[in-house]
Amino acid sequence: MPRKFMLEEQEIPTHYYNIAADLATPLDPPLHPGTKQPIGPQDLAPIFPMELIKQEVSSERFIEIPDAVRNAYATFRPSPLIRALDLERALGTPAQIYYKYEGVSPAGSHKLNTALAQAYYNKQAGIKRIATETGAGQWGSALSLACKMFGLQCKVYMVKVSYEQKPYRRSMIHTWGAEVVASPSTDTKSGRDALAKNPNSTGSLGLAISEAVEDAAGREDTNYSLGSVLNHVLLHQTVIGLEAKKQMEKAGVYPDIIIGCVGGGSNFGGIVLPFIKDKLAGKKFRAIAVEPASCPSLTKGEYRYDLGDVAGMAPMVKMYTLGHDFIPPSIHAGGLRYHGMSPIISKLYHEKLIEAQAYDQMEVFEAGVLFAQTEGIIPAPESSHAIKSAIEEAKKAKLEGTKKIILFNLSGHGHFDMSAYDAYFAGKLGQGNGNGK
Ligand SMILES: Cc1ncc(COP(=O)(O)O)c(C=O)c1O
Repeated sequence: MPRKFMLEEQEIPTHYYNIAADLATPLDPPLHPGTKQPIGPQDLAPIFPMELIKQEVSSERFIEIPDAVRNAYATFRPSPLIRALDLERALGTPAQIYYKYEGVSPAGSHKLNTALAQAYYNKQAGIKRIATETGAGQWGSALSLACKMFGLQCKVYMVKVSYEQKPYRRSMIHTWGAEVVASPSTDTKSGRDALAKNPNSTGSLGLAISEAVEDAAGREDTNYSLGSVLNHVLLHQTVIGLEAKKQMEKAGVYPDIIIGCVGGGSNFGGIVLPFIKDKLAGKKFRAIAVEPASCPSLTKGEYRYDLGDVAGMAPMVKMYTLGHDFIPPSIHAGGLRYHGMSPIISKLYHEKLIEAQAYDQMEVFEAGVLFAQTEGIIPAPESSHAIKSAIEEAKKAKLEGTKKIILFNLSGHGHFDMSAYDAYFAGKLGQGNGNGK
């Protein structure tokens, strides 16, 4: 029984897939946080290069991947598609479980897919330096490496709780030559204001975004870069789903269920959007976005315009949101602690093209440990949300006696999350609902 389905280097996608071309109605436009009017390219130009602004609003179905970016992808892509035979056996399920493994990137997650594209377009536009935020440190480390590969400087505002919990992500950012500070920091007005209100603030992604946008808006040579949420980020991540589609074809199957964890929605969008193209054309399958119960933007949020950050520096977008000032509890899946959700994923959810599930921290770690003990790979706590859902769906298939084909995205490895695993084994990990339970 084959376990791995691989592609050759020349099969790295040549184009990104843009879902905007196939949606029945257009996405709602981003609004200026001050005037509440739709924003134009000129409003975004102080912080993004024009090529990325064009991608953000493009309705072209396929957008060519520059050769330099494809070459950089070739250091780790195509990523493998693996059949989780040992997990299937452990569950005794008739379902087939496949996972696309993005942890093979040098930074350890899917984030490098968009980091490389964003660094490239900024370099082309003559930019010298990029400012960004990072939650768990996955995005900050990926962007640091991408900036190094394309000859740019990089400054990372890292959410304080992760800065303290994940010292080795910080070291990776340093190793790849970027500067990293804990957010809230004293380097920006947004950070100083937050510290004045609460000197013990553990920070949030929304606040770190405010700091990075403020940094970029205040310097000619600097742009801002976001690791999730925006249309162009999901666009770049479609390399995951485009490859997975070819690999599932090689395996001779088409998924009944596609699963990904969601923070801002980029790895889930990356795997699912090329398949949603088929769904819009009549194909039937379920797509499940999995979030932490402590930060349930899809399952408990409202669908409305909201700010993308705490201080109102970033545009307002129509999305499922818990409110831009929501500070989630300090769970170990730091990359899923965002108050909102990508406008594309929000729209698909609102139109019932995708579903959502939420799980507590404890059951997510239990699923991650089962995966590590069967498949070998120690997953990032973020990715374990997708694993938990895949396990639940495989158990359901067992009860129903159906041979469901399940595909999930294993967005990253957890090698820098071992303190969280230690806490889990020591019985010191809570449900992540903020009151220690
Ligand atoms: C491994 C991993 N998976 C998932 C996410 C969530 O982000 P997104 O929803 O944009 O994929 C993160 C974010 O840092 C991450 O590090």
